[in-house]
Amino acid sequence: MPGDGIGPEVTACAHRVLKEIAARYGHKFFFSVQLIGGSAIDETGNPLPDATIASCEQCDAVLLGAVGGPKWSDPNAAVRPEQGLLGLRSRLEVFANLRPVKVMDALIGTSPLKGEITQGVDLVVVRELTGGIYFGEKTRDESSASDLCTYTAAEIERIVRVAARLAASRRGKLCSIDKANVLETSRLWRDVTNRLMRDEFPEIELETLLVDAAAMHLLSRPRDFDVIVTENMFGDILTDEASMLVGSLGMLPSASIGESALGIYEPIHGSAPDIAGKGLANPCGALGSVAMLLRHSLKLDAEASAVEAAIGAAIAAGARTADIACDDDAVLSTTDMTDRIISELD
Ligand code: IPM
Ligand code: MN
Repeated sequence: MPGDGIGPEVTACAHRVLKEIAARYGHKFFFSVQLIGGSAIDETGNPLPDATIASCEQCDAVLLGAVGGPKWSDPNAAVRPEQGLLGLRSRLEVFANLRPVKVMDALIGTSPLKGEITQGVDLVVVRELTGGIYFGEKTRDESSASDLCTYTAAEIERIVRVAARLAASRRGKLCSIDKANVLETSRLWRDVTNRLMRDEFPEIELETLLVDAAAMHLLSRPRDFDVIVTENMFGDILTDEASMLVGSLGMLPSASIGESALGIYEPIHGSAPDIAGKGLANPCGALGSVAMLLRHSLKLDAEASAVEAAIGAAIAAGARTADIACDDDAVLSTTDMTDRIISELD
């Protein structure tokens, strides 16, 4: 699903890389291109057409560009592109959004933060994706508005399990982030997390942080974090912040997964309407999402690692899009960057 803004440009690159992987590893992938977001509103009036849902349910994985843009962002609009994305996440029950943040040595100069802070950062934020304030009841009249935040113990347990299992496969550390000093949902989150971790994952080191402090610790001691688990909106905000450890939102991939193998894979950057159509977008977030798609939904581990290695090798060799270029770096277009990454697949 190309979606809006730079979405079509980066998904076109992702599509090319998948075809290269198919050719090199002897697979046959079948692609179906579907509408979502603003472009779907323009064509059908609906940000999540039935045909899109039907196609997703027949596929093994969904690759998504981005949705949204100024054309559809009137605060009084009846339908919005974002409803398409949120509706799809909820419909496919992909409650766990994995957002890895790994600082490559070659990109240390790209971050606005000092290299001594960012070097070696390797963390994953596990963001709850189908609950919380995003999905609670909303009200609005001329003089007031409300957004309800709800969580059930079951929703908290399943996301914490995903995060704890991931921590067990990594450095064995989990940090749960909440606002338990103010929010009732956070107090439930903390209770459920403490109990579940004690009963099911006693070997995992559990740290708990309030979200305001966590926003600071993420910048002052990012290397200490291994896996972070948090609710929907905190995860949304903290991952944009965490992207600055790497230096560009354009670098970060994500995987949204649930109980089944079907997942949604999307770069965490938005539609970036200011640079859309100019060949300036960084394809790495989308290509990293391809790697996650290969690994999680298609169970093609070697292929996934090959894509990640190719991105790393191209960057180590100096390939740069505008967002990650420093002073005298030559700047590559979206497609030239993709060519460089594809050439590293060999
Ligand atoms: C993201 C985006 C979405 C979100 C928007 C487009 C609805 O910011 O995937 O992080 O808030 O979840
Ligand atoms: Mn976001």
